[in-house]
Amino acid sequence: TRQQMWEEHQLGNAVSTHNIDEIYLPESEKYDYVFDKEAMIGFTSDSTDILADSDEEHEESSEEEDEEKKTLLTQLEIEATRIKSIGESRKLLPVYAYRTELMEAIKENQALIIVGETGSGKTTQLPQYLVEDGYTEGGKYQVAVTQPRRVAAMSVAARVSDEMNVVLGKEVGYSIRFDDKTTPGKTILKYMTDGMLLREFLTDPELSNYSCIMIDEAHERTLATDVLLGLLKNIMKNRKSLKLLISSATVNAKKFSAFFDDCPIFNVPGRRYPVDIHYTLQPEGNYINAAITTIFQIHTTQSLKGDILLFLTGQEEIEHTKEKIEEIAAKLGARIPQLLITPIYANLPQEQQANIFQKTPEKCRKVVLATNIAETSLTIDGIKYVIDPGFVKENSYVPSTGMTQLLTIPCSKASVDQRAGRAGRVGPGKCFRLFTKYSYENELEAMPRPEIVRTNLSNTVLLLLSLEVKDLLHFPFLDPPQISTLTKSLENLYILGALNSKGQITELGKMMCEFPCEPEFAKVLHTAATHPKAGGVLEQSLSIVSMLHEITSIFIGNKKEATARIVSDIGSDHLLYLKIYEDWESSNYSRSWCQDHKIQHKTMLRVRNIRKQLSRCCVKLGLTAKNSALKGDEGMVENVLIGRLTKSFITGFPLNIVQLKSGGYQTIGKSKGGLNVTIHPSSVIFQNQKEKGKKLDKFILYQQLMLTSKEFVRDCLPIPNDLWLTEMVPQIFDSLIDDK
Ligand code: CDP
Ligand code: MG
Repeated sequence: TRQQMWEEHQLGNAVSTHNIDEIYLPESEKYDYVFDKEAMIGFTSDSTDILADSDEEHEESSEEEDEEKKTLLTQLEIEATRIKSIGESRKLLPVYAYRTELMEAIKENQALIIVGETGSGKTTQLPQYLVEDGYTEGGKYQVAVTQPRRVAAMSVAARVSDEMNVVLGKEVGYSIRFDDKTTPGKTILKYMTDGMLLREFLTDPELSNYSCIMIDEAHERTLATDVLLGLLKNIMKNRKSLKLLISSATVNAKKFSAFFDDCPIFNVPGRRYPVDIHYTLQPEGNYINAAITTIFQIHTTQSLKGDILLFLTGQEEIEHTKEKIEEIAAKLGARIPQLLITPIYANLPQEQQANIFQKTPEKCRKVVLATNIAETSLTIDGIKYVIDPGFVKENSYVPSTGMTQLLTIPCSKASVDQRAGRAGRVGPGKCFRLFTKYSYENELEAMPRPEIVRTNLSNTVLLLLSLEVKDLLHFPFLDPPQISTLTKSLENLYILGALNSKGQITELGKMMCEFPCEPEFAKVLHTAATHPKAGGVLEQSLSIVSMLHEITSIFIGNKKEATARIVSDIGSDHLLYLKIYEDWESSNYSRSWCQDHKIQHKTMLRVRNIRKQLSRCCVKLGLTAKNSALKGDEGMVENVLIGRLTKSFITGFPLNIVQLKSGGYQTIGKSKGGLNVTIHPSSVIFQNQKEKGKKLDKFILYQQLMLTSKEFVRDCLPIPNDLWLTEMVPQIFDSLIDDK
């Protein structure tokens, strides 16, 4: 099955039907610029155009001369379009033709589901129509548009402010965690992540500032979107004038409609060109190699006009693939036209994200390496070829162990169809699926699983309880979460002290909700500020917690190399992050310090901003060293400092602890025999133990458990004294730790 293929791939046993060495054969006729379907080895073509909904014939010209003429023409066309007023180009989008009917439907219904092809103008146009039709009543109300992804919220807000010819952050703004680009009193159109709107319920439970709310990309079924839908359903009864639009690119519209008392579904017919679907003849064992081979085959056999979009599962895979492609391209040199490789994933530094929208230069082909962020939320113009290995990374929470695994799993049918569709936006396209037709028809799930049934719900439960939703079992969930997950969340929140033994929210719990971070981190900060035995280390904890928020993009290149430039010997990843922050601070936040130490300056600026916001929150809640009667940050003995920091983290993450057992590490947990885990090679603990031969620590706290081919723990903090565990969290450690 697809899952087994993935496991084989991970173990390196995969057999690839695509031989990567073939692309090193420079002389082969394969690389002539002829349009030749047969040259695409290893694929079977699906002659039925499952995606085409247009009867038009699309002729493909293969002649190079024609191509050049066309290029010139296209340039002129583009120039002409550019000159045309912004208003004109807005009128070209499919939704425009339905504007009157749409606005009529919105007027008559409190809730409306909108279904339409990606790129038809739902996200950028509908909110503008609402503003233009007076729904904001001259600034009295706002229109909110939620996005599951931060990148989408930012890029769409930028686009719309451009179209409306206003400065981003004024009339049109965005709000994502730690980055609020809105002006109170001025912003009327607000793009935001679904999580941010959810947080607004805390300060304004009726969302009384908004006259219209558009839940965009609802089909993604993120946890925040699902919870929002439930809360909105509740407040709509009291706020009859509130308009709710739910937009969805795929066809689970009926489910949304049923949820909102059978509200109407408005269908915006989109323009989509036919996409030829190709499958591999045999199951593909090594999809990275297959994808790379396919990129070069397309590049060398298909006309240069038309960019490539490759779907991968995550940042590491994307970076690795980028390197490999560039290496091969460098070897082939001038024998092939230039390739422009542009990655896009959620953690990509903001300034690089814009690259994917840049027009492809002449005599060059753009290859976008994307996570499923490019599946629906971002529209990249000019894509003609989609390569789809058919995998996606998905969180999966196991309530019995309390662990979240990030697993790579086969995509659903709905996803792969959506991905293929991305090839047919500007003209007829091609999609190369790196799996078999049999697999598509027989092995893929129809729909992805909504996040609510596969994730840790502690944050959500805490939020709902603080919103006084007491009866969680009867909350209107589109798909109810598992009872075991809910129970586990209540248990976790009790351990953190957010709930009392009756399951009611405590003062501390309410405080945790105020923080723009996970309750676990809030607990760390609370302990670090106020605890009689661990307090007085708030400033240092703030630095570490802020660094942990951006940890995936702190280092330029290899973490180990960067670490070597900063410190020769350090006891934990947490202390390393603290040292980096403090050294950078001492350098007066200098850019050159970052360059010298292989640290991303832009990321550090974000860390500083996060730190500022968390710190402000602490001040607001009275969590300061002054109030805690614990001073002495200055000149605290190193060991005392480390001890207090460690204790603070124990109170926030008491379940993220592994124990040394017969030479290896095991997670602690009630279930007999924990899970065997390995310290990730990127951790300083790994280097200390394996390379410097230091004694193995008996207990280690970790920030992240990754389940891939091996169970790795990342970002580790050794606990030198196991009495600290029972001291800080007796309710679990008195019974949990055996053979003390
Ligand atoms: O939401 P939907 O997928 O229906 O479409 P949209 O995001 O409103 O995009 C409408 C059009 O705006 C797209 O076809 C893109 O050409 C353009 N757009 C853009 O150029 N840059 C963006 N950041 C967003 C949209
Ligand atoms: Mg959209």
